[in-house]
Amino acid sequence: MSIRQDFPILARQSRGKSLVYLDNGATTQKPQAVIDAIDTYYRMHNSNVHRAAHELAEEATQMMESGRTLCQEFINAKDRKEIIFTRGTTEAINLVANVLTQRIQPGQDILLTELEHHSNIVPWQMLAERTGANIKAVAITDDGELDLEDAAAKLCKNTALFAFTHVSNGLGTINPAKTLIKMAKDVGALTLVDGAQAILHLPVDVQDLDCDFYVFSGHKLYAPTGIGVLYGREELLEALPPWQGGGEMIEQVTLTSSTYQSAPYKFEAGTPNVAGAVGLGAAITYLKQQPIADLVAAEDALIKEALSGLQQIPGFQLVGKPNKRSAVISFLLDGSHPNDVGTLLDQQGIAVRSGHHCNMPLMTRLGVPGTVRASFSLYNSEADVDRLIAGVQKASTFL
Ligand SMILES: Cc1ncc(COP(=O)(O)O)c(C=O)c1O
Repeated sequence: MSIRQDFPILARQSRGKSLVYLDNGATTQKPQAVIDAIDTYYRMHNSNVHRAAHELAEEATQMMESGRTLCQEFINAKDRKEIIFTRGTTEAINLVANVLTQRIQPGQDILLTELEHHSNIVPWQMLAERTGANIKAVAITDDGELDLEDAAAKLCKNTALFAFTHVSNGLGTINPAKTLIKMAKDVGALTLVDGAQAILHLPVDVQDLDCDFYVFSGHKLYAPTGIGVLYGREELLEALPPWQGGGEMIEQVTLTSSTYQSAPYKFEAGTPNVAGAVGLGAAITYLKQQPIADLVAAEDALIKEALSGLQQIPGFQLVGKPNKRSAVISFLLDGSHPNDVGTLLDQQGIAVRSGHHCNMPLMTRLGVPGTVRASFSLYNSEADVDRLIAGVQKASTFL
């Protein structure tokens, strides 16, 4: 299959068997086009950006900025100024949590959900500590869906911000983001959508969603680690103060005070990850060659096939049964610790993740120690599904 051939790592072996990579929720593998773009950048164009008058600096700046434009188009932001490069989802959320400090009043609510990754919990707890705000969370059903009645009850005039994940990394639940954003707007709350798991699997249109902030990581989108995006509505970004101070984010500096550039540069202090932005641009260019509807349909078909095979295995327990599922299957085998199942799969050359997936509150809510998580992406094949089913079958007889 040609897509598989685009990803050189898939040709390697793991534990002496051909690699079945089903840990895409943690990070995706990189296509040759991304590896080449980074290689060419360092061999031919490497320079600091925005600073010097020489040709290399001009080229590096142009390459990074075209990465920004590709990100803007990819999520349909209105303006490229709305795209801030960060290290990833985690840094993007921390940035927002920091710059909102002056806007949050003691006693206001910051609303999360029980599905959140620690990255979309801890920065808000730190903000709540700084401001005296309260953290609240929308409950989930036993199937792992957001309880929309609870969301409606908890969203009120006292809600300063609603931060929720578009797709759950632990269960694969696809949340009704547009509905949730509308509910939050109706009570005047700001909205941040954690798109770390959605960006690869769903078409994302921030204007249609009408969110205030949308964040994602490049490495979950076939791009390198260390680069990610914070989308913010332009008016909001202009009104918010910078987070970190340093080179490139300023207009004028004296020893006692400074004035700042406008967005996005106001939020990008110091030398940015130029090669990362180039790699992210190359990943988006690569992805754009495949119609997203086809990718989603192919992933859905694989997930269905995997679920129907896995559910025949004695002792297989599916964790989370959302109506709308992205490319994630979380499960347990009766009487076995998820880490033991993960180790047995690893011995068969099958890479999955086991543990709490940075979802401790979710695992506590579901009353499980963790899960085994198989997460799919565009290069996974029916052969991978067959290996997974056979691998879990073997683990279930062994444990
Ligand atoms: C839903 C979700 N949010 C946030 C993150 C954090 O992403 P990063 O570690 O790339 O900052 C992840 C990573 O797994 C995630 O799945």
